[in-house]
Amino acid sequence: MEKEAQKKLQHLYRKLKILKKTFLGYPCDAKFDYSPLYKFLEFPINNVGDPFEPSTYRLQTKDFEREVLKFFADLFHIKSYWGYVTNGGTEGNLYGLYLARELHPKATVFFSEHTHYSIKKNVHLLGMKSCMVKSQRNGEIDYTDFEDKVKMHREAIVVANIGTTMMGAIDNVRLLAKILERHHIRSYIHADAALYGMVLPFLPQNEQKEKLFDFRTKLNSIAVSGHKFAGSPIPCGIVIVRKHLAQKLQTYIEYIDAHDTTLSGSRDAFTPLIFWYRIKTIGLHGFKKQVAYCTELADFLVKELNKIGWPDVMQSSITVSFRRPSEKIIKKWELATQKDIAHVICLPHETKEQLHRFMEDLKKEMK
Ligand SMILES: Cc1ncc(COP(=O)(O)O)c(C=O)c1O
Repeated sequence: MEKEAQKKLQHLYRKLKILKKTFLGYPCDAKFDYSPLYKFLEFPINNVGDPFEPSTYRLQTKDFEREVLKFFADLFHIKSYWGYVTNGGTEGNLYGLYLARELHPKATVFFSEHTHYSIKKNVHLLGMKSCMVKSQRNGEIDYTDFEDKVKMHREAIVVANIGTTMMGAIDNVRLLAKILERHHIRSYIHADAALYGMVLPFLPQNEQKEKLFDFRTKLNSIAVSGHKFAGSPIPCGIVIVRKHLAQKLQTYIEYIDAHDTTLSGSRDAFTPLIFWYRIKTIGLHGFKKQVAYCTELADFLVKELNKIGWPDVMQSSITVSFRRPSEKIIKKWELATQKDIAHVICLPHETKEQLHRFMEDLKKEMK
């Protein structure tokens, strides 16, 4: 390689190392070591086709992918399921909405103002009708507005936010289902659990009850991002759905000798290994410990923000939102912002010392 090109790579490496130290605003854990997997980058692996079927492309990791799906099926309390490892939360949401549209072609999609932009984009891509519902101040869907808007429909597709992007607000799936039942509406509920799909199941039991979003409710599909709480250098995720519904979307393709059930044709076979490795090395107990650690960090940050009287502080488990600081602080700490709100997502790679330094910057600004 030319010297110039080598230098460019070195420069990128150094820059990323520095930026990692102040990475507070985006919900992606940065504490991981996947070096035992590097050797699998020697192969042109590809999980083309359905994860539950072999295909003529044999350099693949589908048995690892199935183990990852089984982990999530157990976590979300479903026995008869189908799903696959996606390239992130957006693809999972797209699959959920696609399946919903095939089952309810005439239905309108309902989602709240605080919903992630991927839903609006996917609804547009799929050419579906949609209806925006108001959000409450904490970011949760406004149930009264939802009922008012949905009650004149015979069929509805509803996106429940299991952790909104900015405030981590959680829509009450059982309440949404009750409203739909009250008005005898045929429905499909999809959960966008991009970050909190890996957080809520590891909260203490008593805190989980009111936030229940798994398949013990009337949910039909769930999308989770893998690179968020679990942590991965390559974006990934899972989508998991009730099996009898997914059977609607199956086309046999002779070229690969498998059913074409996934949105992408060629699919990443390395991220299932990353996911699998994370699950095997951390395990349920480890994830529980990580969530407890992150909640403690979030509690600490809220206390510190309140101590100095910083405005608009709100917490939803590991997400702490507050009044937007100066552009200088936003840039330095890579804070995500929306209008006048900014947030910190507390993740395993963060420490109290780091949050102390962040608070020092805010205190200076307060003066
Ligand atoms: C609530 C929510 N849904 C979906 C997504 C999209 O996920 P991804 O970036 O993995 O496509 C995000 C990303 O931040 C999100 O916060």
